Amino acid sequence: MSNFFVSSIGKKFVMSVTGMFLILFLIVHLTVNSMIIIDDTGALFNKAAHFMATNPIIKIIEPILAIGVILHILFASLITLQNQLKRDINYPGLRRYKKYDTCASTNWQSRNMYILGTVILTFLVIHLINFFWKIRYTGSPLLEQPTILSSEIKNVYALVTTRFTTWWYVLIYVIGAVALGLHLYHGVWSAFQTLGWSNRKWRKILNVIGVIISVILGGGFAFIPLFVFIKSII
Ligand code: HEM
Repeated sequence: MSNFFVSSIGKKFVMSVTGMFLILFLIVHLTVNSMIIIDDTGALFNKAAHFMATNPIIKIIEPILAIGVILHILFASLITLQNQLKRDINYPGLRRYKKYDTCASTNWQSRNMYILGTVILTFLVIHLINFFWKIRYTGSPLLEQPTILSSEIKNVYALVTTRFTTWWYVLIYVIGAVALGLHLYHGVWSAFQTLGWSNRKWRKILNVIGVIISVILGGGFAFIPLFVFIKSII
């Protein structure tokens, strides 16, 4: 069993399962965040954010999510390092000849999954420091602004929408969302393949599912900060 996780296919399996789990989280996260644009009183989003922060089931899922993110990054690093070493052994000096480095049968996203993942991780750290950390630990005067709901409910809407009135902060979100979309476009397809769900018949359908997931998640996460920013300047 332990040999399985050391093998290439074992590592890919872990990446696929954790990746699918992270996609499920992102679908829920985008659904909750879309309440920012549906209701401009902020009541709906504040209620949803309160539910997500206090619900016991979500509290159990949160550490699993953190472990999922860590495993995904760890195994991605191992696979990338392994591939790099293999290439250096089989084709010494290859990296000096950049033109051989780009295989015609792979697309840009598949060759740059690790770079896209690093961009997403950088975005995630900035994101967590500005929202998660403030909401859970350090607090912010914006969170204490009165809401039309009970006084126990933090004004997460005020925190998020105030952040999205700064153009460079919105830009960070757009870059993060585009990187996420490109990462998912190849990631979903690759996960289906690793889990053995991709044969000739399903290839096209799974490709379309990959495109739909990446456009909805990438586009959705970019649209929310842009929407709030544009609304604040007109
Ligand atoms: C429109 C864009 C986004 C908004 C408005 C948003 C909002 C938030 C907020 C308010 C929290 C804190 C929740 C709490 O602690 O109660 C949070 C947490 C989090 N966000 Fe986002 N987010 C966005 C995009 C993203 C993206 C693109 C990712 C992943 C690539 C992401 C990953 C996370 C994670 C992992 C957490 C911590 C887990 C949790 O608190 O449930 N978010 N987000």
